[in-house]
Amino acid sequence: MEKPRQPTEPYRVKSVEPIKLLARQERQQKIEQAHYNIFNIDAADIYIDLLTDSGTSAMSNRQWAALMMGDESYAGAQSFRRFEKVVKGIFGKKFVIPCHQGRSAENLMFSTILKPGQYVLNNTHFDTTRGNTQHKGGIAVDLPCPEVDAPVPLPFKGDMDTRRLEAFIEEHGREKIAMVMMTVTNNSVGGQAVSMKNIKEVSRICKKHRLPFFFDCARFAENCFFIRRDEPGYEDKPIKEIAAEMFAACDGVMMSAKKDGLANIGGFIALDDEELYQRITDLMILVEGFPTYGGLAGRDLDILAVGLEEVMDPDYLQYRIDQVKYFGDILMQAGMPIVEPTGGHAVFIDAGALLGHIPAEQFPGQALTVAFYLEGGVRVVEIGSLMFGGTDPVTGEKLSAPRELVRLAVPRRVYTNSHLDYIAEVAARINARKELLGGFKISYQSRFLRHFTCKLEVIAPRNVEVNS
Ligand code: F0G
Repeated sequence: MEKPRQPTEPYRVKSVEPIKLLARQERQQKIEQAHYNIFNIDAADIYIDLLTDSGTSAMSNRQWAALMMGDESYAGAQSFRRFEKVVKGIFGKKFVIPCHQGRSAENLMFSTILKPGQYVLNNTHFDTTRGNTQHKGGIAVDLPCPEVDAPVPLPFKGDMDTRRLEAFIEEHGREKIAMVMMTVTNNSVGGQAVSMKNIKEVSRICKKHRLPFFFDCARFAENCFFIRRDEPGYEDKPIKEIAAEMFAACDGVMMSAKKDGLANIGGFIALDDEELYQRITDLMILVEGFPTYGGLAGRDLDILAVGLEEVMDPDYLQYRIDQVKYFGDILMQAGMPIVEPTGGHAVFIDAGALLGHIPAEQFPGQALTVAFYLEGGVRVVEIGSLMFGGTDPVTGEKLSAPRELVRLAVPRRVYTNSHLDYIAEVAARINARKELLGGFKISYQSRFLRHFTCKLEVIAPRNVEVNS
């Protein structure tokens, strides 16, 4: 198969940050010292870091310039006014509440509106959204569309199952439901896009039942790009118009701006309901800060005001989505089975399919994650039985992961296509000797979110062999 053409960057580089590949022996030592948990490795010991696309973007010259305009006044800063104007312009809501990141927006929202025992319905909850729902005594329910696991590259696998949504509301009644949410793009199922058709249908159902409808819109611009590319009728529409149409369908949004805000920190809530705005800001003053800075510095708000506009640039988005697609294509050429289509922010490798000889309870995703570090100094993250398995800390139930995946998230404007080529070469080397990879067992784990801090041991000596 011919190598796909590299997409060309719509920017040039003005400032560089050196990165270094440690010698293989040093990498071996580092991973052993980290008890084979990639979260325990210092960033300085990583060559290419694909742990997340969150807070890892490179800022533009305009953003660096905006930083100097930061107004650090406690109340009514000009930075907030600039930020507020941009957010209103894109999301079309009356009230804007800055927050230091996405999960603080979730915490404020659910602390304010959720009554214990109520449901929150979502196409698929991101971990922190689920966690914040549960923390306030709520029940998080996922309603992904039936095509989500289809082994074919359908365009809108991020959609919500509207038939199940209607049925759920009929069965439980609207009083039992705090809100309906739509996560765009749908991170937990592979950064898959949600169609405008689906958004409008969910909106219609919510209106009919008088249920609040909110977006979790961390990657809204990437979702708009997919709508323009793949949904009939949107080919010629500017991204900003698509965004306006999308957000006109909802009552409000919560955003982690560490993704499509092209910033290293930040988030917000935007909404129309004045009474809810009042209640959230009352709480916010206690826990986050005054409503015109929300736990952020004035300069962060200025950076976001620029980033939120910049992210909708069609050349940037074309490049961004093409780069992730290119990465997926070269990984497939290197023998990696991936989730198709490639999503907006990451490529997901099916480690369960690649390492069929390692059973789920021995964490094939972690075996591949460790192999990426040992073979190439690359940090990726397991999204399988290590992250989602184990025992439910509240109910004591045994948990299982739907699939054994490994996520390679691509930071925005940070790595070049040559970095991605290098990773594909690492993948090909792993693939050539994959039978030698062995599984892992856990020697220590915490009750909640064990993957962040657990310690692991190699079960078979094979994993050492492949990398010696
Ligand atoms: N919603 C979605 C869809 C997310 O992907 C994230 C974070 C959050 C909310 C929480 O936002 O981190 O600013 O508090 N996702 C990161 C990731 C951590 O790696 O996917 P936050």
